[in-house]
Amino acid sequence: MLEVVNLTKNYKKVKAVDQVNFYIEPGEIVGLLGPNGAGKSTTIAMLSTLIPPSSGDVLLQNENVNKNPRNLRNILGVVPQEIALYGDLTARENLEFFGSVHKMPKKQLKERIEVVLKQVGLENEHKKLVKHYSGGMKRRLNIGVALLHEPQYLIMDEPTVGIDPQSRNHILETVKKLNQEFKTAIIYTSHYMEEVEYLCNRIYIMDKGRIIASGTKEEIKSILSSEKMIVVKFDRHSNSLIQEITNQPLLSNLQVKESEISFTVAKDANLLPTLLNLCEKHNVVLNSFHIEEPTLEDVFLHLTGRALRR
Ligand SMILES: Nc1ncnc2c1ncn2[C@@H]1O[C@H](COP(=O)(O)OP(=O)(O)OP(=O)(O)O)[C@@H](O)[C@H]1O
Ligand SMILES: [Mg+2]
Repeated sequence: MLEVVNLTKNYKKVKAVDQVNFYIEPGEIVGLLGPNGAGKSTTIAMLSTLIPPSSGDVLLQNENVNKNPRNLRNILGVVPQEIALYGDLTARENLEFFGSVHKMPKKQLKERIEVVLKQVGLENEHKKLVKHYSGGMKRRLNIGVALLHEPQYLIMDEPTVGIDPQSRNHILETVKKLNQEFKTAIIYTSHYMEEVEYLCNRIYIMDKGRIIASGTKEEIKSILSSEKMIVVKFDRHSNSLIQEITNQPLLSNLQVKESEISFTVAKDANLLPTLLNLCEKHNVVLNSFHIEEPTLEDVFLHLTGRALRR
């Protein structure tokens, strides 16, 4: 298990990271979600021993990584937010260079380069100079560099920002595959909640240097769900039916859009039998009844009063 305990980083006036605690177990995909300036990259830089914390610890199997940073570096791959590649080299030459920096044996490196080029979908583009790559291709190669030494833990810092949808999908599918096929544990940092929702089992939400919520998607969303929103579609609009629904005691925020209505009720309320009775009375058919899930965006808004995307 990889863990950070009370991790803190102070820059002169800014508390970039403030008493952050989290853990990741082998084989998990964990999301680190937060807006610009939340402290995600600073947390990752400390976690990967690139910068020292002002206070707090990074633990690998309960041992402080400062004791022997190599142990962590050997099993950790980091995909940095800023692309770090040589434009005047080809993809293959970049991988050869970074592999030799990591002192990988030549034969092993050669084999790994073939595997990695396939994993990131650049096997047919490896002869092009990287400066002629699209943004998405550079991102994919950046991920390839982090995968060379087959890390058990992979940290990805906003790997899909500013790239084309095709590369984005490719990256998301690569993340899923790495996790499913090789059991790679992944810390996925993003301010796109739909990506984090799609990929991650557990999520940490960060804002202003602090973790403001954590847990499974369901646990985090349950922060909001003392109420639930329900959308009902009828076969036609009926004023008399709407009037009776409006009079129901447990129901609030009723919105009517032709033959569709939405409203909120307490989480444990069961309004369906009442609705069916009312429909029969007013000779209306109930076509669908749908309980809307809150999104992580809703949770973030609720916790901070601000939208996640800026
Ligand atoms: N080297 C530094 N010197 C001073 N302040 C810094 C430094 N690095 C980061 N900060 C500040 O720390 C805070 C957190 O920054 P960080 O880059 O960790 O956020 P982030 O969540 O990764 O944001 P983004 O989504 O924009 O990448 C910000 O206020 C930032 O300005
Ligand atoms: Mg960042």
